[in-house]
Amino acid sequence: MMSGKSVYSALTHDPHDERHFGAVHTPVYDSSLFTFPTLAAMERAGGDANAFVYSRGNNPTVRALEDKLAELEGGERARCFATGMGAISAAVLSSVRTGDHIVCVDQAYGPARELMGGYLKRLGIDTTFVDGASVDDIVKAIRPETRLLYLESPSSLLFELQDLRRCAAIARERGIRTIVDNTWATPCYQNPLALGIDLVVHSLTKYAGGHSDAMGGAVVGSAEAIAALSGGELVLFGAVMLPQTASVILRGLRTLPLRMERHQAGGFAVAAYLSSLPFVDRVRHPGLTSHPQHALARSQMSGYGGLLSFEAGKDRARLARFVDSLAYFRIGFSWGGYESLVSLQEGAAGRPRTVRPVVRLYVGLEDPADLIADLASAFRAAGFVHPEEVHNDDGEDRD
Ligand SMILES: Cc1ncc(COP(=O)(O)O)c(C=O)c1O
Repeated sequence: MMSGKSVYSALTHDPHDERHFGAVHTPVYDSSLFTFPTLAAMERAGGDANAFVYSRGNNPTVRALEDKLAELEGGERARCFATGMGAISAAVLSSVRTGDHIVCVDQAYGPARELMGGYLKRLGIDTTFVDGASVDDIVKAIRPETRLLYLESPSSLLFELQDLRRCAAIARERGIRTIVDNTWATPCYQNPLALGIDLVVHSLTKYAGGHSDAMGGAVVGSAEAIAALSGGELVLFGAVMLPQTASVILRGLRTLPLRMERHQAGGFAVAAYLSSLPFVDRVRHPGLTSHPQHALARSQMSGYGGLLSFEAGKDRARLARFVDSLAYFRIGFSWGGYESLVSLQEGAAGRPRTVRPVVRLYVGLEDPADLIADLASAFRAAGFVHPEEVHNDDGEDRD
């Protein structure tokens, strides 16, 4: 949040707007087109990239959400898309052309990796994947034809960070554009544009919407970069957000900082519990002092979300029993809603440096004490020797 205003005020205050009869929540303008009193007025609007002419280009409800996101990220302009991947594809494609080269972190979201490493090959665009934790590896991968450095910090399975200030400076002096997927930290806890990054992308399907009932994406950046993308990938590919969806996401966004506080507290409670277990080899959460990049996290983020992962041995079948025994944590991908989730992921799924099964937990808005009790009982059901059982010398089964 870069304007100096608190995120709470930015998200809950809209000025009185006569256009909407003073309605506090922006109405859903579900019109596909907008008409004009005269031909001259229509022609004037046709020359204005921000005018409301046709809803594939601009829509007032979607604009209300875009304006909020731009303010939160400290960008000049934001554009919304039907999904996070719609936003990512548009941001990437607006940054490169045939013959260009991309450097991308190897822990980026799978379909984003597939877009760059697979799909774009067809268009003659080559991508090198690097260990984002190493600035040296990023620099070494840069070629004369590199035009884009694509980052995701923290990444959403192993929670690895990139040094955003250094990456931005290195790229800028070489004329390379930078994009950061900021979905994990949200604009509440990280503002990449203020660190020198060119474009921020979000899956609004996650925390921004916050209720697992809508999909969306956004790109935020300078007016110039966003104008190019609006006239190009947004309007030409047409993966635009519907006004009905914008209304739902805008409603969710109002409580984002409140929810993030709660996810942060729950995430820390679960991470501390997991860290105390003798059979857990590693807990991955950038807010823990045990995280190898914790100092970097503190220098570029002001808080943490509720998505974390851990490793507990290599026995996949046992970990699958643990997952199946959970009650509060429902089995599913995605995150950012009110409900806690669990998934079991492996290196095979495009995550080359993951060598053992990783359990990913999303800590929702339930009471952390209930979630920890759920985890403890699932560990026992899967045959892990839980500390309470070790210290249980009265012979009673406390399950
Ligand atoms: C980090 C991250 N970025 C982007 C996306 C893509 O968003 P969407 O599913 O809205 O297309 C996801 C989806 O899981 C994600 O986890």
